[in-house]
Amino acid sequence: MRIAVVAGDGIGPEVTREALKVLGALTAAEIFFFPWSAEHFLKTGETIPAGAFERLARDFDAVLVGAFGDPRIPDGRHADEILLGMRRRLDLYANVRPVRALHDSAVPLRNARASDVDFVIFRENTEGAYSGRGRTAGAGTPDEEAVEEDVTTRRGVERICRAAFVFAGTFEKPRRLGRRPRVLMADKHNVQKRGGGLWNRVFFEVAAAFPECEARHMFADALAHEMVRVPGGLDVVVTNNLFGDVLSDLGAAIQGGLGMAPSGNVHPGHVSVFEPVHGSAPDLAGRGIANPFGSIRSLGMLFAHVGRADLETRIERAVAACLAAGETTRDLGGKLSTAEAGDAVVARLDG
Ligand code: NAD
Ligand code: IPM
Ligand code: MN
Repeated sequence: MRIAVVAGDGIGPEVTREALKVLGALTAAEIFFFPWSAEHFLKTGETIPAGAFERLARDFDAVLVGAFGDPRIPDGRHADEILLGMRRRLDLYANVRPVRALHDSAVPLRNARASDVDFVIFRENTEGAYSGRGRTAGAGTPDEEAVEEDVTTRRGVERICRAAFVFAGTFEKPRRLGRRPRVLMADKHNVQKRGGGLWNRVFFEVAAAFPECEARHMFADALAHEMVRVPGGLDVVVTNNLFGDVLSDLGAAIQGGLGMAPSGNVHPGHVSVFEPVHGSAPDLAGRGIANPFGSIRSLGMLFAHVGRADLETRIERAVAACLAAGETTRDLGGKLSTAEAGDAVVARLDG
């Protein structure tokens, strides 16, 4: 297994170190570190070198990423070119963000238990509000206008919806509950009418090919409410890039916070990129207190993607055991440092 590591900024390197500790305890792999980060950009003027995406695609089985974002680079240019660059240039159209609580103690909702928080967000990852298109006019005048273009293609919607339905057919939860898998699409076609309801039309067209699944639509605002009030009814949520970004931080909150949430930027058959949902957390950086579980669980997703679902299962079990024992960083009420939390997972891998 050849894995590229781009640890990035802030707590990115701190949590990634713990994921690599867990990796080392589980299996042999060749690890290559790439320095692309805010620090590297400030020192060299380079965000990501020419040919880097081709190299990642050619030479590696998968990529493990930390986080990007640094107060010294307020426009986030390096994050755009490195992180959004990987998503776009490697055509990683599915941002798969599981919302799975591993222990009751991690769930902040009054009326829900861990077993109620178990669904997966499929966030479209290459278009929408992340098109990079837009313009301003009349700068500094009262009539100043800013336009951010939210660009959606039929191909883009079709492939993320298909991925969501295919995944739903393999999802263990509905099988366990003895009901059909549910796929829910969230958009705002009640206001965003200029797009001709492309998401809504294409979602139901794709759904017709998956009669074994239940297809349903909700407006994104109502879904945010549902995620907090009755998360147990959800299996798979599919949505656009920007709603997916926001809803996945909400999803992180209900499974224990941003420190817990893993993700994968995936294109089946392509080299894919795995990273925690959280950012570089400048407020925590350098203090050794960030929660590494989101990064460690992202490594689990990476393993599953390269055919080692057994290792993902071991990681999920070990993290769950740590939560049960109160072996956590302070965001979850524990006393462990980032490194001690990584050690705790390693110690529980065989439990
Ligand atoms: P953030 O996710 O970095 O932090 C939000 C809050 O969650 C903070 O209070 C932080 O302390 C907490 N938090 C985050 N990760 C945690 C962890 N592992 N353990 C415990 N607590 C954790 O989001 P932000 O503050 O809005 O953004 C900071 C920077 O990160 C910005 O530059 C932003 O653009 C960037 N960012 C990058 C990514 C990414 O690389 N994928 C994701 C989100 C934000
Ligand atoms: C995420 C982040 C990124 C996004 C930022 C850092 C560009 O918030 O991975 O969720 O908006 O996608
Ligand atoms: Mn985000």
